[in-house]
Amino acid sequence: MSEHVRNLPYDSTKFKKETLPYYISMTDSEITEILKILGLHSLDELFNHLPDSIKFKNDFNMGKALSYNDLIEHVTNVANKNKIMTSYVGDGLKSYKLEKIVDDVCSIRGLTTAYTPYQPERGQGTLWSLYLFSNAIHSLTGFEAVNASMYDRSTCLFEALNASTKISKNKNTVLLLESNYPGDIEVVQTLSKHTSLNVILIPFNKSTGLTDLSVVKDYVEKYQSDLASIAFPQINCVGNIENFSGLTEICEDNKLVSIAVIDPMLISTEGLLPPSQYGKKGTNFFVAEGQHLALAPNFGGPGLGIFGTRYNETDKLSIRATPGRYIGKTIDHDGNEAVTMILSTREQHIRRDKASSNICSNQAFIATLAGAALLSRGSNGITTSFKVARKNAENLYNLITSFEGFKPQFPNTPFVNEFCVSLPINTCDFLKMASKDQIELGIDVSERLKAKNKNVLLLSCSDIQTDEDYRKVESFLLKKFKKTSTSLIAPKIPEKYLRLDQVALPAFKREELFDFYQKLGEQNVSPDDNIYPLGSCTMKYNPLVNDYLAGLPGITNLHPQSNELTAQGSLQILYEIANMFKQITGLAGVALQPVAGAQGELVGIKMFQAYHADHSKGQSRNIILIPKSAHGTNPATSTMAGFITKEVNGSTQGIIEICANSHGQIDMNQLKEVVSKYHQQIAGIMVTNPNTSGIFETNFKEMADLIHSVGGLVYMDGANMNAIAGIVNLEKLGVDAVHNNLHKTWSIPHGGGGPGDAIVAVSKKLVDYIPGTQVKLSSGVYEIFHAPKSIGSFHRHHGNFAHKVRGYSYLLALGTEGVIKMSSIAVLSARYLFHRLGKAFPTLPENTQAIPRMHEFILTLTKEDFDRIQKIGIPRTNIIPQIGKLFLDFGVHAPTVAFPEAFGLMIEPTESFNKKELDRFCDIVLCIRKILDEYPNILISAPHFTPIKKVDEVKANKDIKLNIKIDKLPPVLPNKITPHALDSMSINEIFERILKAHEEYK
Ligand SMILES: Cc1ncc(COP(=O)(O)O)c(C=O)c1O
Repeated sequence: MSEHVRNLPYDSTKFKKETLPYYISMTDSEITEILKILGLHSLDELFNHLPDSIKFKNDFNMGKALSYNDLIEHVTNVANKNKIMTSYVGDGLKSYKLEKIVDDVCSIRGLTTAYTPYQPERGQGTLWSLYLFSNAIHSLTGFEAVNASMYDRSTCLFEALNASTKISKNKNTVLLLESNYPGDIEVVQTLSKHTSLNVILIPFNKSTGLTDLSVVKDYVEKYQSDLASIAFPQINCVGNIENFSGLTEICEDNKLVSIAVIDPMLISTEGLLPPSQYGKKGTNFFVAEGQHLALAPNFGGPGLGIFGTRYNETDKLSIRATPGRYIGKTIDHDGNEAVTMILSTREQHIRRDKASSNICSNQAFIATLAGAALLSRGSNGITTSFKVARKNAENLYNLITSFEGFKPQFPNTPFVNEFCVSLPINTCDFLKMASKDQIELGIDVSERLKAKNKNVLLLSCSDIQTDEDYRKVESFLLKKFKKTSTSLIAPKIPEKYLRLDQVALPAFKREELFDFYQKLGEQNVSPDDNIYPLGSCTMKYNPLVNDYLAGLPGITNLHPQSNELTAQGSLQILYEIANMFKQITGLAGVALQPVAGAQGELVGIKMFQAYHADHSKGQSRNIILIPKSAHGTNPATSTMAGFITKEVNGSTQGIIEICANSHGQIDMNQLKEVVSKYHQQIAGIMVTNPNTSGIFETNFKEMADLIHSVGGLVYMDGANMNAIAGIVNLEKLGVDAVHNNLHKTWSIPHGGGGPGDAIVAVSKKLVDYIPGTQVKLSSGVYEIFHAPKSIGSFHRHHGNFAHKVRGYSYLLALGTEGVIKMSSIAVLSARYLFHRLGKAFPTLPENTQAIPRMHEFILTLTKEDFDRIQKIGIPRTNIIPQIGKLFLDFGVHAPTVAFPEAFGLMIEPTESFNKKELDRFCDIVLCIRKILDEYPNILISAPHFTPIKKVDEVKANKDIKLNIKIDKLPPVLPNKITPHALDSMSINEIFERILKAHEEYK
């Protein structure tokens, strides 16, 4: 056993599924037994109803699976190919010293593996951690409403600009300072293309390194009639402090929405002014990157987009135009303090095409970590980091300007911890020389500044550089350049830019925080412990080894703007995982940047738009077809891409919904009618397959051919790939683009709502349009390239890189056989549950009991059941959600309630559970059936054993309470009976306890 394996930071034997082949616990004899019950002879027969023409034919090849130890060896060796150097690279992504509490919280499975807390009674752990994050940022910024969370700063910026147009009612022009990070600007431009958002860039003055306010005023005057907002950075892309208060005042004077782009590490006590204090009243929104609050650069991600808006006596409305998730305080039935998600009616799962954004999975767990790190640092710790960063920058400025030919690029412009110098030689050559001495000495910003001599360098300091690093730089410079007797002192930060008030954010001890977060973890449940039947979310076992490998220092410490030659390990992973997804899908190309399913959808739809712009000869293709049962992200994405649904001269534009037929599949008759009516107006179709009822769309190829016949394109929502990976070849199915949610099928943990990752595969037609970076192997060296007609960029850098490492590690552990087995057992498990439970409950869509299910299915009640239960005082629409609460009483999570069918419970077991576990789950559901039949009143008092009773969500939304003062950690209520204890009881015993608890209910 090698050192890498011996030194694992966890005990793999404590996790019963960790070292099983393919992480599947069902034994061969159990498989045979279940097949027999289902009247089948082999796993292949599970897929007999799928046309042969669309299946892989011995041509699915992912290679041989690696053993647990070989996997660790292999990925460690790849990670070691990265060269981690002393770094002065910051720019789009900063790095600071990390708080030890972050690793502690990462080890809490109740927090890492849970889903979005849609069941607040079983999600208080995640909800409190997010509430604290929002409030820690509130303490720093002064903004009342901080959402939790967005993907990264660049996408946040786009969302803020979009929200500003909603607030400004039909004004669609926004001004974006060119001095924002170029990577962020590229994302905004990519996302706004083909939409009504008109983004105008205001250039900055290349000799002062600042934006001239007079130029901004000219732009405001020019675009005034249609102008919604101005977005500006506090620290700009060449390190200088912009006149943020002056810019805010221009917005105030012209009634424009002001959007500040900030760095939360710079605004604590004695730091820079927070955005709530800019100008006369503060800005309307702020956006920020938060990855560096908790994590190392990780070659770019997972990032953390932070979005803040005002919610106070003078502005209670703006929040409704904003994207993302907010957490509010309320009480439970017993009057206990509780937290829950609020204002959901803005979000895609409710508002669909009218949603404020398409975001669904976000970066929740990074927000949790950032919250923990902020509580560990406290405002004083952040101030210390700020001061050290400034001191390091002053020292470096002083050192570097003492060498002959090294001059400050902007001698009189104040900066904090990043500055530009002009060099006596070409910057690119300078950086190569430094890297030979193991120093990443900044980045080349000559292009950014249009410097003819290509000799400008941007250096970034933080609290990370040590005296030794300083000496290393000094000795490198002494070796190559001549030192003079003079050196310069960095310009002072003007007082008007500095904060005078004290930030009230205490620092808590690591032990106290760890104990607190562990207790929060116990308020959630995890697929480690039990079946987590949340349909469409694929709550499978998340191997620890993937987290371990993604956390190797060679992986985490590399900056995404590092030189390619220093990043060969990370580039190899990107190259190989792209090839893996070409295999899995059968498609020709892969986009690696998208960080969630919804963002993958947007990538696909925007590629469709680019393709049509090139191929549709002036014909405007303005219609997207979407099945009625689709996930809310599909219509929300289409709207965000620019498909606005409206009637124009009696003809529809935007989204047309397609209904299901009596087999629960797309109604081909309606589809044919729509296609013949709108033919060349159709840009494409988005179909989830298998669909959200767990039924495979057997007419998919016919449907794809029909769409292709009128020049349209086919998007497959691949959220349910867990049922068909290794079985169905998407190329044969006629798919042009598909996203693979790595946080579902490909095992990365859900983190209480994110981060996810969503590799998008595309057909040959779209390969030239792939956005973001791709990697090729040329003469043994991995190199980054861009597609010839790349549609741009959807996220800064390479998206959630660390999650790609997790997916890569999972796929290496599966190989060809494992992927096929994963899908087969996922389908077998669902078929078995459906076989047992389908006898006790009707299914949805109606009359589809005989249609074979894939990985999930939907149960409902009879009309008589609904009538009977309604009579005891539960509104009809609340009956299914209340049944969800009953599941919590048995120590398991609820199925997905009221989606995609308002009266359905969607159950997805995944491949992770053995027959005993599946049987116990069936017994639970059958006990719930008995309760519904004999004791329906129990629904009123459920849940009974969670840490809190039923949460008052109406109050939470009416009387919005976003803020608390963090002077101590909030109390954490224990489970009344822990899920673990419930799991060791018989179903009958639990039933008796429920009866008793119900009797005691007031
Ligand atoms: C069918 C389907 N499509 C799309 C999505 C959105 O994916 P994400 O949450 O990764 O954005 C989901 C998420 O639950 C889904 O189930």
